[in-house]
Amino acid sequence: MPPLLELEHVSKHFGGVMALRDVDFTLLPGEIHGLVGENGAGKSTTMKIIAGVHTDFDGVMKIRGKEVRLRSARDALSNSIGMVHQELSIVPDLTVAENVFLGNQPLTPLGTVDWSRMNREAKRLIASLGLEIDPTTTMGTLPVGLQQLVELSRVLFSGAQIIILDEPTSALSPPEVKQLFAVLRRLRSEGRSIVFISHFLDDVLAISDRVTVFRNGQKVTTADTKTLSKDDVISHMIGRGSKGMHMGEEAELRGDDAKPVVLSVDGVSDGRSLRDFSIDLRAGEITGVYGFMGSGQIELSRALFGKLPLRRGTISLDGKPVRLRSTAAARAKGIAFVPENRRMMLFRQEPVYKNVSISILDRIHRLFVKPQVERKITEGHIKDLQIRPPRTGIALGSLSGGNQQKVALAKWLTHLPKVLILSEPTRGMDVGAKEDVIRIVKSLRDRGVAVLVLSTEPETILTLADRVTVISKGMVAKRFSTGHIEKADLLAAA
Ligand SMILES: Nc1ncnc2c1ncn2[C@@H]1O[C@H](COP(=O)(O)OP(=O)(O)OP(=O)(O)O)[C@@H](O)[C@H]1O
Ligand SMILES: [Mg+2]
Repeated sequence: MPPLLELEHVSKHFGGVMALRDVDFTLLPGEIHGLVGENGAGKSTTMKIIAGVHTDFDGVMKIRGKEVRLRSARDALSNSIGMVHQELSIVPDLTVAENVFLGNQPLTPLGTVDWSRMNREAKRLIASLGLEIDPTTTMGTLPVGLQQLVELSRVLFSGAQIIILDEPTSALSPPEVKQLFAVLRRLRSEGRSIVFISHFLDDVLAISDRVTVFRNGQKVTTADTKTLSKDDVISHMIGRGSKGMHMGEEAELRGDDAKPVVLSVDGVSDGRSLRDFSIDLRAGEITGVYGFMGSGQIELSRALFGKLPLRRGTISLDGKPVRLRSTAAARAKGIAFVPENRRMMLFRQEPVYKNVSISILDRIHRLFVKPQVERKITEGHIKDLQIRPPRTGIALGSLSGGNQQKVALAKWLTHLPKVLILSEPTRGMDVGAKEDVIRIVKSLRDRGVAVLVLSTEPETILTLADRVTVISKGMVAKRFSTGHIEKADLLAAA
């Protein structure tokens, strides 16, 4: 049988960035095709070419052996190609039914929207996914997992022959994943072809007929799933065996149970994103929590600040249960937080020195802050941290992202917290800035701070952590406390 779809020698660059290099890819009729690779490997870019989102690329795309050049996503749809994107594209203010039929509402003979038909149809489609949702519910009020399912139903039942799902299960619970898989198998039996992109390798191996692995913008291999073990897939993803290990690809853990527990999370559940999750943070240790996007890290940090309503479980500080209702309340108890979205915590229009001194204002003078004093303290830090340019008076927003992150950390150097929680501390940084941040975090640890690092990047975890907990679908998947671990161990556990 000729392939339903082919890419030949496809390359794509964004400005100076080469995102795809000479990629060949085939999709057969009636197959579920898994697509895996590390962050930035080129999975979404390849599929966006097929779905008509990126129209400017080198190489050839063929449908049923005939060369095509799609001009838009709409053009792709009329060629029976539908894609659910990695980022949810729902409209929170519209109803569930309106979202399902976005831009495609059934009309009455008079040309107005046929609401009763739309609601009826939406209810039927959603029921096919095993869900009972009132189609007139406002989308934004549903939990993220249900929003994801509604979004999926839009493309799954659009009648498309080629269905591309980019990370469809990141917010789904295990029973919802099972339900989705049943639908995918049914669609396959109708002869439709499905591309399934996921970081959950077990899911990919369970659902796919064939698997394609990407690494660094190139296709590494396409193989029958039957012939692949999870270890094989991981080896292809990270290129193991081709050359030695690099920095951040392995670590010697040195968790020490003799160190006192400062903060303890015990069996917390919110009924969805966290399931019976426990972790202890010890003084003078960096504890890493590794997991894919959507596996519960964000919710864990929210739970620590009382921002996630918990159904079960306790959080204790120095052995006493606490409820921290805000980051300010937490700070008063010695818990510092640097979120992944650093902009939330910084004042971009204000000069650098104000951003640094903000946490130590109490110590200088609460009401009458002398800029000279603030600047003086900040200047010391700027030198220690090699913040560039080394000027305290310029607006924070004019610094690069990496240097802004250093400012966010600098706040805590003078006023040592008991617990420091860092979400994605080195994301998007260049090598030099990364090294500075790593040095600062380790020095805080060495001064006795209990540090929690939450990250979706194995390298970040392996470079920083003394012990690691892998979180998967809100649960503890594995703990590593001592001894040698490698990136492949983390990927395999998640
Ligand atoms: N619109 C864009 N502009 C500039 N660069 C881009 C754009 N989209 C993707 N890239 C770059 O292309 C490369 C491949 O990205 P892509 O999104 O395809 O990765 P991916 O395999 O889907 O990763 P992930 O698992 O993180 O979703 C990356 O280096 C990315 O930064
Ligand atoms: Mg992607």
